[in-house]
Amino acid sequence: MDFIISEEQQMIRQAARDFAKNECLPGVIQRDEQQKFPKEQIMKLGELGFMGMMVDPKYGGSGLDTVSYVLAMEEISKIDASTSVCMSVNNSLVCWGIQEFGNDAQKEKYLTPLAMGQKDGELYIGAFLLSEPEAGSDATSQKTMAEDRGDHYLLNGTKNWITNGASASVYLVIAQTDPAKKSNGINVFIVERDTPGVEVAPKENKLGIRGSDTTSVMFTDVVVPKENRIGEDGFGFKFAMKTLAGGRIGIASQALGIASGAYELSLAYAKQRKAFGKEIMHHQAIQFKLADMATRIDASRLMCLKAASDKDNGRDYTLSSSMAKVFSSETAMWTATEAVQIHGGYGFVKEYHVERLMRDAKITQIYEGTSEVQRIVIGRTILK
Ligand code: CAA
Repeated sequence: MDFIISEEQQMIRQAARDFAKNECLPGVIQRDEQQKFPKEQIMKLGELGFMGMMVDPKYGGSGLDTVSYVLAMEEISKIDASTSVCMSVNNSLVCWGIQEFGNDAQKEKYLTPLAMGQKDGELYIGAFLLSEPEAGSDATSQKTMAEDRGDHYLLNGTKNWITNGASASVYLVIAQTDPAKKSNGINVFIVERDTPGVEVAPKENKLGIRGSDTTSVMFTDVVVPKENRIGEDGFGFKFAMKTLAGGRIGIASQALGIASGAYELSLAYAKQRKAFGKEIMHHQAIQFKLADMATRIDASRLMCLKAASDKDNGRDYTLSSSMAKVFSSETAMWTATEAVQIHGGYGFVKEYHVERLMRDAKITQIYEGTSEVQRIVIGRTILK
C-alpha cells in the first residue's frame, strides 16, 4: 500500500492552500456576518480550474483525479467552508453527474461553462435539486411532478435547502414522472434558471456556512425540453444516489478541512497562550485534546482518500464515501467544539475563527445525507 501523494497532487494542494490564505481569508468573517455569497472567490476558483476539477479538459475541466479534489477541498474548507460547499456541489453533484450520465449535446452546452465556473465573463455554476419540504432523507417521496407532454415535460413543485439556489444558472432537478413506479418513475432534468415559471425564494438565514446561498426554488408550469432529461426514462433516482455517493466524498473532505482548520488554530493558540505559569500546550488537559484531534483528523483524511481512491480506481465507493462522510463530519463537529473550548473566552468571539468553524461543522452532519442516512447506507451494505 502506497500512502505517497504525487508531486502533482502536492502542487494542487499547495495552490489550494495559497488560494484559501490569499483569497478566502480576507473578509471571511464579514461574509459570514453579512451572508455574502463569495462570488469573487468562486470566479477565481473557476479561473484556476477548481470548479471542474474532475471534468475532461475537452469540456473545460482540469482532468484531475478525486484524490486531488479531496486535497483541494480540505485546504479551502480549513478557511472558508461557505466557498468550499459551492465548489463541492458544482464539482461533484453537478459537473460529475452531467459528465458521467449526460449526452454529448448536454455536455457541450452545459458542462463546459459549468466546469469553468463562468460564461461570457459572468458567474456560471450549478445546483442539485433533490430535497423537498417533505422529501429530505426520504428522497423517494418526491412531490415535484414532471408531466410528459410529448416533446417537453411540464414541471411543477417546490425544492428546498438548495445550495447555490440563488446563484446557479443551471439546476439539476429530480422530479416524479410516474408515481406508480415509485423510485423507478423519477427523472432528472437540466433546467435553466431563467426559464419562465422558475422562482427563487429569499436566502435562508442560517447557523453556519452563511456565505453560501441556500434557498427554496419553486416551479410553476415550467416547460423543460425533452432533450434536457438526463439518461433513460426512470433513471433519476439512481442518478441521484450515484451522484450523491461522490458528493459525499466532497462533503467528507469539507468536514475534514473544518476539523483540520480548527485543530491548526488550536495548536497555534496553545503554543502561545499562557496559564498557570506555562503555555497551555504543556497542560495535559489541553495536550490530550490536541492528541485526540490529530488522531481523529488523520483517520478522517485516510478515509476521505480511501473513498477517493476507490472512485478513481473504478471500485464501488458507496460504502467508503458514506463511512468517510459520517466519520469526518462527526470529527469536524467534535474538533471544532473542542477548539472553542481550548480558546476559552477568545473562542467565543468571531475574530478567532473557531466559533465560525463550529457553526459551519454542523451542516456536514446534515446535508448530502444526514449521519443517520449514512448509517442506513453503511448498514444495508454490510448486511448484504
Ligand atoms: N446506486 C445505485 N442505485 C441505488 C443506490 C446507489 N448508491 N442506492 C439506492 N439505489 C437504488 C436501489 O437499488 C433501488 O432500486 P430498485 O428499486 O431498482 O431496486 C432504488 O434506488 C431505491 O432505493 P432504496 O429502496 O434503497 O430507497 P429508500 O427509499 O430506502 O432510500 C436512502 C434509501 C439511502 C435513505 C436514500 O433515500 C437517501 O440517500 N436519502 C438521503 C438523500 C440525501 O442525501 N439528500 C441530500 C440532499 S442533496 C444536498 O444536500 C445537496 C446540497 O445542496 C448540499
